[in-house]
This record gives sequence, structure tokens and C-alpha cells, in this order.
Amino acid sequence: MDFQQIFHTVPDVQASAPGRVNLLGEHTDYNDGFVLPTAIPQQTTVYIGYSPDQYHHFYSVELAELIAVHPTESIPQGFASYINGCIRVLEQTGYIIPPVNLLVTSSVPIGAGLSSSAALEVATLRGLRSLLQLDLDDVKVAQLGQQAEIQYAGVSCGILDQMACSLADTEHMLFLDTRTLDRQILPFPTGAEIVVIDSGVTRSLASSGYNQRRAECESAAQQLGVKALRDVSDPETANSLPEPLSKRARHVITENNRVLQVLKGVTAPEFGKLMNASHTSLRDNYEVSVPALDTLVNLLQKTPGVFGARLTGAGFGGACVALVQVGAGNAIAETVLNQYNNMGYLGHILIS
Ligand code: GLA
Repeated sequence: MDFQQIFHTVPDVQASAPGRVNLLGEHTDYNDGFVLPTAIPQQTTVYIGYSPDQYHHFYSVELAELIAVHPTESIPQGFASYINGCIRVLEQTGYIIPPVNLLVTSSVPIGAGLSSSAALEVATLRGLRSLLQLDLDDVKVAQLGQQAEIQYAGVSCGILDQMACSLADTEHMLFLDTRTLDRQILPFPTGAEIVVIDSGVTRSLASSGYNQRRAECESAAQQLGVKALRDVSDPETANSLPEPLSKRARHVITENNRVLQVLKGVTAPEFGKLMNASHTSLRDNYEVSVPALDTLVNLLQKTPGVFGARLTGAGFGGACVALVQVGAGNAIAETVLNQYNNMGYLGHILIS
């Protein structure tokens, strides 16, 4: 189905945004910390035109769903909540958004931890920016997308996903200081490429577990007398906290240090070790892994040619990312996927 078939007219604009995979720096962004994502080839594209009536009309090609949204009265759920959220936050900023027809199509997998929602938000905001010639730079687009997610999807997320979808490309890593929004474009470690495998276990409890972790971090920072956990660099500092705050803080502090380590320049094997340590900390300190992710990461880590592997995204299910020898990605992904699925899982390869 295309725009013309659904809305019987041609769209005025189209815009796209990629998904992202975070290589290091997990659950650090809402602690004012450091992250290291890259964009993925999978993209979300929106086509937008003006609506002939007083409703917004949103169509998802993948879901084959058409939703009419009243500009002030409707509170849509599902994919429409993100699009509606973007429109609403633009209105909060002072822009007048006329009723629109919007068709979305996406190859970013949903629920795999690759930011399908941020890709939709950034694509929608880019499309509206070009339709209405809004004066928004790419950082502002990311910030508005984050607000749409927090206010209209109910996830108190940080800025990692939207900044990555708005500013990263597939050829580099984006180092981002989420407090200052200072950033650096870095090359991938020499001789390495990325493999991403979906565990096939969809994220459950993601938003409740996520919001809980965030609250725990805030309370840890408060008890340590700092604005955010980013302000602590010695992991020993966490020992003074009660559990589980101590473990949560230990993860955030060590994870920030791992990202900063990469900034100093590391080889692919060194980068891989940092990824392995990140997974261990996400599993044991932050407790956002699940058995399927641990199994998949173990299989990846013991496969020759793999420098390191970890869960990526919020956790509680979703995908794993591995750094592997350049040229070996396809073979490694096939081998590991076979082993994993022979254990009764239903994983699949997303990038190799
Ligand atoms: C989700 C959130 C991000 C970030 C990651 C974990 O993707 O949207 O803001 O917190 O989880 O690193």
C-alpha cells in the first residue's frame, strides 16, 4: 500500500530516519552520561500531505492500520501515539500544525532495542519540518522526539535514541555527552565490523523496569550528593549505598568509564573486552538481561573472530550486538544463530 492508494492524492513531502544500535554506554543517558551508538541501515520513512478534514490520518504499512486522530481530543495508542506525540510537542513549542495525512513504512524491527520508536519520531519531525518549513536543527528534532516519547509513550527515556537517529550515520560511531550534547564522530575500531542478532524474545516489562531503574539511579545520585551519577567516576563510591542502589550505581559509573576509555583510542580486541564487561555489568549490576540474551551473548563471545558482545538497548529482551573481524560477520552470524536456534529459540539476524 502506498500513500496514493490510502489517501487518493500524492504526498507533499517524505522524510526518513534510521534505527540505531548502541555499541557501548547503556543506561547512562538518563544519568547525564556518555553513549556510543551508530546508525543502522534499516530506516523508517514517512510520507505527509495535508488532510482534507479536521482530523489527522495516520497509516502504518506494516500494521495495515489507519487511525483518525482528532487534533485536540484523541489520545491514540500504538504507532499513532508517537506521531501524535511529535505533533503535540511541536504545538507546545508554539508551532501551528494543520491536520495531516501521514503514511509510515519501516524496516526497523520493533521491540528489538534498535530504536524503532525514535526512528519514527525523528522521521515524523523531519517530515513536518520540511512540510511546514519549521526552523528546527537536528539536535532540536532529537529533543522534541524525546519529549514525544516521554509525554505520549510513557517511557522516561534519555536522549540517546533520538540523538542517534537524528545525527548518527552508518559509517561511524557517535560519541555523545548526554549532559552537554557535545559529540564526536569516531571511526569504528580498525579491522572490525558489527553483527546484530535479535534474540526473538520481545521485550517485556521494558517500560516499568526501565522507569524503575531510572528512579533508582536518581535516588542513588541524591544519596551520594551529586546532580547525576555521571558526576561520580570512582566505582568504589557506590559501596556506601544500600542495595540495589549500590549495584545500579556501580553499573552506571563503570559503564561511563568504559565509553571514556574508547575516546582515548582502543584496538578492536580492547573494544570487545569493554563490550563483554558491559554485558556482565548489565546482567549482574543493572539486572536488565534475560536468559535468552545471556545465552546469545555467550555463544557470540566464544566464537572465533568475535572481539566482544553484549545486549543492546534497554534490555529485558531484544537484540545483541557483537564486534567481529571485518569480513567475518556473515559467517559468524549464521553459525551463532544456528547454535542459538538449535537450543529452541527463534532468533534472527538483523545486521551481518
Ligand atoms: C532505551 C532508552 C534510551 C536509553 C536506553 C538504554 O533505548 O530509550 O534513552 O536509556 O534504553 O541505554
